[in-house]
Amino acid sequence: MKKILVINGPNLNLLGEREVEIYGKTSLEDIESETIKFAKINKIDVEFKQSNEESEIINWIQSCMKNNYKGLLINAGAYTHTSIAIMDALKAIENIPIIEVHLSNIHQREEFRKKSYISEVADGVIFGFGAHSYILAIMAIENLLKKKNG
Ligand code: DQA
Repeated sequence: MKKILVINGPNLNLLGEREVEIYGKTSLEDIESETIKFAKINKIDVEFKQSNEESEIINWIQSCMKNNYKGLLINAGAYTHTSIAIMDALKAIENIPIIEVHLSNIHQREEFRKKSYISEVADGVIFGFGAHSYILAIMAIENLLKKKNG
């Protein structure tokens, strides 16, 4: 089975409790199990990770090729809007589709959320669908992989 890595950045471990009016009541664990279930139907093996630390996220991105992941989904949380280091790590990835994911519609919120360093590098972006953004991102990556590998 194709392996896909899903990286979640800072504060996403608090999903379900944190600003529920924006992010919804679903926990990250529930998003993980729903995403894994959906991916399995599409013969994709998903590994979920979450960290509040920029360096850990960068190390996971760097190990993507070595670990034979075929795709990368990333919700970098607030690092989306600040981290040139994460953007550079993503730039170093070759031949692996990258989808940027957000639960909220980052263009309907504060001005500072409109800038995404991840978008500079991602093949595509999915945002604004709450927990369902992750399922849509799996569909998107599946489609990109089909186009790439036939
Ligand atoms: C987020 C949007 C970011 O602006 C915010 O800092 C988050 C979550 C989202 O999924 O909507 O932590 O990435």
